[in-house]
Amino acid sequence: MTVLEIDDIDTYYGNSHILHDVSLDLAEGEVVALLGRNGAGKTTTMRSIMGVTPPQRGSIRYRGEELVGKSPDEINELGLNLVPEDRRVFPTLTVHENIVLAHKLADDPRPVEEMYDLFPVLDDLRSNNGQNLSGGEQQMLSVARALIQRPSTLLLDEPTEGLAPVIVDDLREMLQDVVDQNVTVLLSEQNVNFAFDLATRGYVIDTGSIVFEGSIEDIRERDDLLEKYLAVSPEEVA
Ligand SMILES: Nc1ncnc2c1ncn2[C@@H]1O[C@H](COP(=O)(O)OP(=O)(O)OP(=O)(O)O)[C@@H](O)[C@H]1O
Ligand SMILES: [Mg+2]
Repeated sequence: MTVLEIDDIDTYYGNSHILHDVSLDLAEGEVVALLGRNGAGKTTTMRSIMGVTPPQRGSIRYRGEELVGKSPDEINELGLNLVPEDRRVFPTLTVHENIVLAHKLADDPRPVEEMYDLFPVLDDLRSNNGQNLSGGEQQMLSVARALIQRPSTLLLDEPTEGLAPVIVDDLREMLQDVVDQNVTVLLSEQNVNFAFDLATRGYVIDTGSIVFEGSIEDIRERDDLLEKYLAVSPEEVA
């Protein structure tokens, strides 16, 4: 069943026309990668979905309901949750306070302790302040804050950005656990190997247009796409 259906959206920042006829869909429980280099339009696509930068044309339906015209809060309440690329954690609150706050704000949250089971790293850091966490730890806290709200669809904007390879491995494992819980995921990434491991299908975006759509196997084999749009050589792809 299709849960998210984006049809031909055009999104602007002021007079700058950024997204051109972007169409994309997500089926229930699917992990879909949105791949493209810096400035390609990945974040803008996610902001369009969440109502932060709504499209001026086109439609975005979530479980049949039109999202264009709804506020970010209304969209959030429908079960969509964005983990933004700047990892918004409260810097002066502890890890535990960050999680408890997200728990309090949710209508039907998961138990706090479940987050520590999913992210054992955070369990050891309960009383550390958000501002003293490493990039990877902040990322895990951001994902935990999103997951505790029991989202049915999670938009992850470049979760591996700036993370050391060993932390990327941890994050991959944790996201695999999340995916196994039947959460639908749209994953924006420049780290193609990470995206290839988690996703089954992908879209390649370039200068605001979708230039390719297909299974991860298809994308993996397309050396031309990898080089031209993702700036990776085929040898770099595992
Ligand atoms: N607030 C803004 N005002 C004007 N232009 C913007 C704004 N945010 C992004 N842009 C432009 O929109 C285009 C798409 O940006 P976007 O942030 O969606 O790219 P991205 O694929 O997420 O890139 P990155 O991988 O660097 O995060 C870029 O050309 C960018 O310069
Ligand atoms: Mg971005």
